[in-house]
Amino acid sequence: MRFVVTAGPTREAIDPVRFVSNRSSGKMGYAIAEAASAAGHSVTLISGPATVAPPDGAEFVSIITSDELHDAVHRAAPECDVLVMCAAVSDYKPATVALQKMKKRKTPFALELVPTRDILASLPKVNREFLVVGFAAETHDLELNAQKKLREKNCDMIVANDVSKTDSGLESDENEVTIFFRSGESKTISRTSKKIIARELVKIISKMSEKCLTKKSG
Ligand code: C5P
Repeated sequence: MRFVVTAGPTREAIDPVRFVSNRSSGKMGYAIAEAASAAGHSVTLISGPATVAPPDGAEFVSIITSDELHDAVHRAAPECDVLVMCAAVSDYKPATVALQKMKKRKTPFALELVPTRDILASLPKVNREFLVVGFAAETHDLELNAQKKLREKNCDMIVANDVSKTDSGLESDENEVTIFFRSGESKTISRTSKKIIARELVKIISKMSEKCLTKKSG
């Protein structure tokens, strides 16, 4: 099977030296790319600036901004069987990018931010040839928010984690996730290393994708 995995944060420029971003390390997405490759799948890893080295065996596409990620996903998705959107895409970007470094001021000032394009929501909704796996990092109402994203972003499954905990999730080597399926079922993987979670996720995704392929050809 052909996997496209997105990972890491995006950076949205304010001026030539400053940007808006988030704490994503890329570890979860890189572990999924590594696990999929180890399981014999072909993998394209599209990543923002992460803190870990890309795994061997995956084609690597480097992006910085949410717009670059949007374009890279739309280029790669039509060729894949599974798209895993693990990247922590910035939800907002500065309305304008200053061409020169902005001068420090003594008075408060407001930076105008505009929403970025939602990449998952921009994917085809019907007759899609590939499985879409979204991620949801939540600090509260995990199930409610994840179920909402599953429907609104038209994902086949969504992997949710509670990022309010300091010992798992963002930047950590460990995670605890609950996977929500469109059937209404869910499966929790208790706290363990991101590498073990990645292997489990790849198994679940592969099984589901095979089922969809069998349905299509049958
Ligand atoms: O809405 P939220 O950012 O929590 O949704 C998370 C999911 O949506 C992740 O799978 C992320 O990769 C994806 N996303 C996206 N485009 C955005 C923001 C998030 O595809 N602009």
